[in-house]
Amino acid sequence: MVQQEALLGIDTGTSGTKAIVVADNGVVLATASVDYPLSTPRLGWAEQDPALWVDAAKVAVRRALSQVASVRIRAIGLTGQMHGLVLLDGQDRVLRPAILWCDGRTTAQCREITELIGMERLIQLTCNPALEGFTAPKLLWVREHEPEVFGQVEHVLLPKDYVRFVLTGERATDVSDASGTLLLDVRARRWSTTMLSELGIPECWLARVHESPEITGRLRADVAAELGLEPGVPVVGGGGDQAAGAVGAGIVEPGMVSATIGSSGVVFAHSAAITLDPRGRVHTFCHAVPGAWHVMGVTQGAGISLRWWRDHFAAAETATAVRLGVDPYTFLTGEAARIPAGCEGLIWLPYLMGERTPHLDALARGVLFGVTVRHTRAHVLRAVLEGVVFSLNDSLEVLREMGVPVRSVRVSGGGARSTLWRQIQADVYGLPVDTMQAEEGPAYGAALLGAVGVGLQPSVPEGCRAWVKTESRVEPEARHRRIYQAAFTLYRSLYPALKSLYPQAAALSLDEAPAGTEGC
Ligand code: XUL
Repeated sequence: MVQQEALLGIDTGTSGTKAIVVADNGVVLATASVDYPLSTPRLGWAEQDPALWVDAAKVAVRRALSQVASVRIRAIGLTGQMHGLVLLDGQDRVLRPAILWCDGRTTAQCREITELIGMERLIQLTCNPALEGFTAPKLLWVREHEPEVFGQVEHVLLPKDYVRFVLTGERATDVSDASGTLLLDVRARRWSTTMLSELGIPECWLARVHESPEITGRLRADVAAELGLEPGVPVVGGGGDQAAGAVGAGIVEPGMVSATIGSSGVVFAHSAAITLDPRGRVHTFCHAVPGAWHVMGVTQGAGISLRWWRDHFAAAETATAVRLGVDPYTFLTGEAARIPAGCEGLIWLPYLMGERTPHLDALARGVLFGVTVRHTRAHVLRAVLEGVVFSLNDSLEVLREMGVPVRSVRVSGGGARSTLWRQIQADVYGLPVDTMQAEEGPAYGAALLGAVGVGLQPSVPEGCRAWVKTESRVEPEARHRRIYQAAFTLYRSLYPALKSLYPQAAALSLDEAPAGTEGC
């Protein structure tokens, strides 16, 4: 039988791992996902056992491969949740659960780094301010709070790079994911020796840095046998989930912007040169396109807002949807679609996990503003959807201020599946919104990076031109646009009005913090 050449993409996400098999012409042949929990030992903390990622990757790959008759996997591309801290000892044993991107425990360490390095210098050295989600502050937290763990550290890896280590035995990373550590000289695309020496972190702890399409290692024979693959399959650098997702959506040339609603929400723009926001409200990271960068704004609680609603206020509806074999989110957004745009004055601030862009405030909290007796459950639900989009629009406004051209927005992630959420995006952004044919986002981008790595595609932009196709376009509706402009103005004035009160709310809740398994 003739074997079809194909690529494997593995996305180590926050709620699960997805594996996809993509033919060398870009057609998705198979996908499989395996979910896992995350734990919140204290309110605002988020941890995961790296063994979950490895087990899930193996199961997802086997399941995806079992759906395709005869393929030859030419390369593997890795992607995943960014910023997570994985610590290994000298025997490559995991020292503690990984501390994740949405963990908010490191406010003191961020302050410490900013005071030590200086805000302006920090932005010069790493292109970014110190934020709770980033990796370096987490490492400093472990040094301060768990010295017995810190004393045994010999290797520091990011989530997808731990999976790489198990697959290949290589300690390697890629420039886009490494950008989120606060230890990379994002301009020069290599570790910042200044940051490392001033923070007292030995460079030998860190992985080798590669461009995203470069081959970083080959599949070990024992793992290949477990997965049903040939030994020695090349594994390319891959990318952080946002950069790889942008590759999967074709955001690889100037003027292109995407908005992704997954657990977090991200507005992402390609940039041929370093573009900085002097206030650090958006991140400037290396792109998975060699020699290019990207700027992105992040909403911490995007899909999280809707999941929170589903889990705590829609148990009966969710059960009915499951019984009828309908996706509960389709059911819920159908309910919200009956409410007029703007929710008759009801506004949701989606700061359930604090907020990054534009506030950089881990203590920010969710707010439902403007409730009257007239408002129903469905109003609140629609307000949640709209509030998430207002928050993404905040990021878009920062990009516009920075002079980043925005002509249309490509949408992806779970949020792109809802017709209503797509229309709200078009109306709030005031721009046409396009969906992509391949919905697999980061895993698809990782597979494409694999294709470039082994020469099946000449470059990332050319690979995107060959593989990435738009599916549908939603245009903004003028009558909604006016309502949303007024609502967005109100939305924007709420955070400054409440800012000084958030620390009090945080102080009240931290002592009571229950342990649990919810979060990002
Ligand atoms: C990006 C970010 C998220 C996580 C989880 O900076 O924090 O995209 O990677 O998706």
